[in-house]
Amino acid sequence: MQLVLMGGSLRSASLNTRLMRHLAQRLESLGHQVSVFAGEALRLPLYEDGTAPAPETLALHQALLEAQGLVIVSPEYNAGIPGHLKNAVDWLSTMKPSPWPGLPVLLCAASPGAFGGARGHMAWRATLANMGAMALPEALTVPHADQQLDAEGAPTDARTAAAVPKILEGFLSLATRLHAKS
Ligand SMILES: Cc1cc2nc3c(=O)[nH]c(=O)nc-3n(C[C@H](O)[C@H](O)[C@H](O)COP(=O)(O)O)c2cc1C
Repeated sequence: MQLVLMGGSLRSASLNTRLMRHLAQRLESLGHQVSVFAGEALRLPLYEDGTAPAPETLALHQALLEAQGLVIVSPEYNAGIPGHLKNAVDWLSTMKPSPWPGLPVLLCAASPGAFGGARGHMAWRATLANMGAMALPEALTVPHADQQLDAEGAPTDARTAAAVPKILEGFLSLATRLHAKS
């Protein structure tokens, strides 16, 4: 399957980017083709009506048009979506054809906090639903991620580590099912 992973912060030491690289590697080892958009690839100009999309925005748009699923690994900023990721989503929602309707999405987050970025997912779900994307009901959150992610981005807490393959399996099965019907 062709999958896009998008997220992380603009920090070079982003915990979310580290988690995303781990998830990308796991999906690749399952035989999927992955495209990762993180860091500078998501430093897009602010959306402005009447302005042509930048080459980076066009690249993300094209990758999503070709994808059968999207994994979002998002920091939580003030219980919401970080500005650079919301800006990317807003650009994509204005482009034709829209990549969002029917797109299966897995939400993931890592945070040093106790909730693991789960509150940000509520904002993500509202936005994704508005655009017609199909967010998996389950999500992956990594609390205390400053202490509970190894150098390669794998969760070290036993319960979180055990949840990763199950959540990926649920997401891949949703994507396969929706793809079969399209
Ligand atoms: C502006 C701002 C707002 C934040 N708000 C939250 C928050 O609401 N909940 C939370 O768990 N962490 C919050 N944090 C802390 C981030 O989770 C933490 O900085 C995390 O490391 C960001 O992800 P990254 O490591 O991928 O950059 C906030 C950080 C910033 C800079």
